[in-house]
Amino acid sequence: MAASSSATFTSLSLLLVSSLFASSLFCVSEAQPSVPVVKGLSWSFYESSCPNLNSIIRKHLKKVFKKDIGQAAGLLRLHFHDCFVQGCDGSVLLEGSASGPSEQDAPPNLTLRAKAFQIINDLRELIHNKCGRVVSCSDITALAARDAVYLSGGPDYDVPLGRKDGLNFATQNATLANLPPPTSNTSKLLTDLAKKNLDATDVVALSGGHTIGLSHCSSFTGRLYPTQDPTMDKTFANDLKQICPTNTTNATTVLDIRSPDTFDNKYYVDLMNRQGLFTSDQDLYTDKRTKDIVKSFAVDQTLFFEEFVKSMIKMGQLSVLTGSKGEIRADCSVRNSDNKSYLASVVEEDEESLSEF
Ligand code: HEM
Repeated sequence: MAASSSATFTSLSLLLVSSLFASSLFCVSEAQPSVPVVKGLSWSFYESSCPNLNSIIRKHLKKVFKKDIGQAAGLLRLHFHDCFVQGCDGSVLLEGSASGPSEQDAPPNLTLRAKAFQIINDLRELIHNKCGRVVSCSDITALAARDAVYLSGGPDYDVPLGRKDGLNFATQNATLANLPPPTSNTSKLLTDLAKKNLDATDVVALSGGHTIGLSHCSSFTGRLYPTQDPTMDKTFANDLKQICPTNTTNATTVLDIRSPDTFDNKYYVDLMNRQGLFTSDQDLYTDKRTKDIVKSFAVDQTLFFEEFVKSMIKMGQLSVLTGSKGEIRADCSVRNSDNKSYLASVVEEDEESLSEF
């Protein structure tokens, strides 16, 4: 009797343990889409070293976006420009030095928002004050982009973490070669992004980042002057000509005319109405290889959100530095070896620890 009841107990507890295990697996796969995580990154990287990381970032960005939701677009674009050039290593955050002009000085980066760089450094300060210098600037940029999406109405998602910050920025030529211009057609986008292992669905989903934010006239006036792009809706073109009367006007306009501040699928509705701002946007609806993907996102926002999350996680893992490669910058705009105040504090710490002997 005793033996049989203990056997029943054992099999019951086994059942319980295995069902708990199965349900925890299920939760994980529900929260984290089926995108492979590269070696060195993990979903729980700062779980013990900085347990409040997510809430520090979300709380601060809520405040920032309450004042100006436009900053969300600036942060999302910053992460894209970081990842596409030399990988997500925070190299876009580095200021120029004696070694030459930085990525920031390359033409595609001149329209990144100065405020976006400041927000990343503010977050870095808040985080390092709480947890110590354990979280990299490149991870902070990836998390800020995630919150930019979520806090403007888009999907929430987990980000694999553990990136280190690079020691060097890319050359001007490398920066230009890796960021496709807005005049690109779909063929160019597909070829360029294939080099980064991103497929047609990724190209269309990532371009959906243009559902928020602004552009300067210079990025699209080639479609208005001297001749108007026939694929552009006539009324839309006339409205743009009012905003940018010449091809040198220094004004800005929204990327998504239907809901410029909300992260939704309206960008794809714009494309179906020939109201995409750049050639690189509008051609996605002209090219046979991407047209149906555009349509599928325009009619199904949930599908767009799912694909966008997958593509962002893929993009966020491009050529990351992990483990002993790279460093955790004490100031996101300067590498540690160039950072005088960081070096001074390291020397002080060393002196203090020496004096203990
Ligand atoms: C696929 C190729 C892409 C091209 C050719 C492109 C091009 C551009 C250009 C020219 C601008 C406007 C710059 C200006 O004149 O101020 C812009 C803005 C923007 N882009 Fe892209 N982009 C691309 C991909 C992406 C991706 C992958 C994302 C993010 C997932 C993204 C997010 C944004 C955002 C949010 C803005 C608005 C920034 C602001 O308001 O400060 N773009 N993009």
